[in-house]
Amino acid sequence: MGQIVQAAKITHVPTIWMSHTMEKYRGIRQSAIDGYARLRAEAQEAGVETFIVFDTHWIVNQGFHLNAKPRHADTFTSHELPHMLAGLDYDYRGDPELAELIVKTLQGADVRALAQTDENLGLEYGTLLPMHFINQGSFARVLPVAVNQFASIAENLEWGRLLAQAIAASGRKVSVLASGSLSHAFWPNDKSAEGINSINGEFNRQMDLRVLELWEQGRWVEFLDMLPEYAEKCAGECGMNDTALLFGALGAADYAGQITTHTPYFPSSGTGQVNISFSPAGVA
Ligand SMILES: [Fe+2]
Repeated sequence: MGQIVQAAKITHVPTIWMSHTMEKYRGIRQSAIDGYARLRAEAQEAGVETFIVFDTHWIVNQGFHLNAKPRHADTFTSHELPHMLAGLDYDYRGDPELAELIVKTLQGADVRALAQTDENLGLEYGTLLPMHFINQGSFARVLPVAVNQFASIAENLEWGRLLAQAIAASGRKVSVLASGSLSHAFWPNDKSAEGINSINGEFNRQMDLRVLELWEQGRWVEFLDMLPEYAEKCAGECGMNDTALLFGALGAADYAGQITTHTPYFPSSGTGQVNISFSPAGVA
């Protein structure tokens, strides 16, 4: 039987790549890079065979899509922020078998789920940036999942639940990663350069900190109750649907686990970011 052996909410901000590759910015996101290293150690300790990444930069408008290609290899430059993130080489094994099982499980519940295999479909940086560090050495397969910007939190919680069912029926040890922001109010253009290391608004900062308190205290039902409004009022990245998928996979209101903070809360270009694991015991 398969199992979710790691679950986490993770950052993917391009300032991490700047910190890693540009002398002028060296070290500005060291805490995120260190957090990725801890996530890598946690994944290796747990025997992760496949990373499923809910990628808020692979944004779809209809249905539930997985990138089911057997291999993901190319060089990536961001079309959104090419001055921040360019020339990222990648080469990972995909997981077509697990993708097919997930699609069949979701289709069995009347979800419009689709496994994509077009050779021209590349990966986005919500997957690539964290994988560069967490999956260093390409020790595990990578299965990117698109995030639907027009689906509801409730739909994504259900899709996450079904996805966990499919993982349980597979032979894989899986890490599920929600790759996206907490609050996500980018600075307006005229403030974007000076705002690289700050949050856009005290309201968003306070909401993010309160959410992290709820997570630390295990107050999952209250968090899930506020999630749709939190996403709306704090400019959720892709509607915070990556978070909804993650919590669905963890059991939603039945979840009773604890968090481990690998990278404490930090602001980047106006947005709020963390690397936090959720204990997956009893999931699968
Ligand atoms: Fe993002």
